[in-house]
Amino acid sequence: MSEPALSITGACKTFGGLKAVDDVSFRVNSGEIFGIAGPNGSGKSTLFNLMTGIPYGPSAGEVHFDGRRIDRWPAHRIARAGLCRTFQKDAEFPELSADETLQISAVYNGGQRRRDAADNVDKALTLVDFDPDRRTMRSDELSVYEKKQLMIASALVSNPSVLMLDEPASGLTKPEIEKLDALLIAVNRTGVTILLIEHVLSLLLSVSERLMVLNYGQILAEGDPQTVVKNPAVIEAYLGGRG
Ligand SMILES: Nc1ncnc2c1ncn2[C@@H]1O[C@H](COP(=O)(O)OP(=O)(O)O)[C@@H](O)[C@H]1O
Ligand SMILES: [Mg+2]
Repeated sequence: MSEPALSITGACKTFGGLKAVDDVSFRVNSGEIFGIAGPNGSGKSTLFNLMTGIPYGPSAGEVHFDGRRIDRWPAHRIARAGLCRTFQKDAEFPELSADETLQISAVYNGGQRRRDAADNVDKALTLVDFDPDRRTMRSDELSVYEKKQLMIASALVSNPSVLMLDEPASGLTKPEIEKLDALLIAVNRTGVTILLIEHVLSLLLSVSERLMVLNYGQILAEGDPQTVVKNPAVIEAYLGGRG
């Protein structure tokens, strides 16, 4: 059996008395799209934080990436090793263009030389199907969907082997979610493993090969997405009033 891309063992993150992530263990296979769902406050974003070291690692437990233990590494080392993420809140630089944003991301986050960076910027913007005529516009003039494309391209410009997306569909219309679906599949086909936190269940079910559901910081269910969403405990967690 091949090594998993990621292996998380007994991961915990506590804030004072709150166990935001409580003894979570799972593996992500190389090349798959792994979905993560759960009600608000169930620890999804905190799980991404502790895996990428942005802004903190785990309180306890281990994270292995590409066969190496990374949970004590500084965030930039994790990103440069190929584990890259986006954030739940869009955080574009309003006055910079998509081109400039990605150049900066490639050089400062990715540690790339300028010439390599320029190639990777082209590659990333092409992969997310960004309109070439809008690459030099200020980011605050871009549409909501274009900002999402830019956000995903900002992670792709570092040539990650694993891309972690935190609710990328938020704020998108139904047709835009369909475009995002196709975009994720296109990125995955280039060999990038994807971890996808998402509230939009239709998107998760459409693209994920496996689905994990968190509740109160713990794993409630994991496995085949269609089976997981029919699990009574999962239905209860979603309809139980915390969503
Ligand atoms: N920096 C922090 N300080 C204190 N509590 C936090 C912090 N970050 C997250 N939490 C708490 O941890 C829990 C999980 O949050 P989060 O991971 O953001 O959930 P999700 O992404 O599933 O909505 C919530 O109760 C949240 O209030
Ligand atoms: Mg979150």
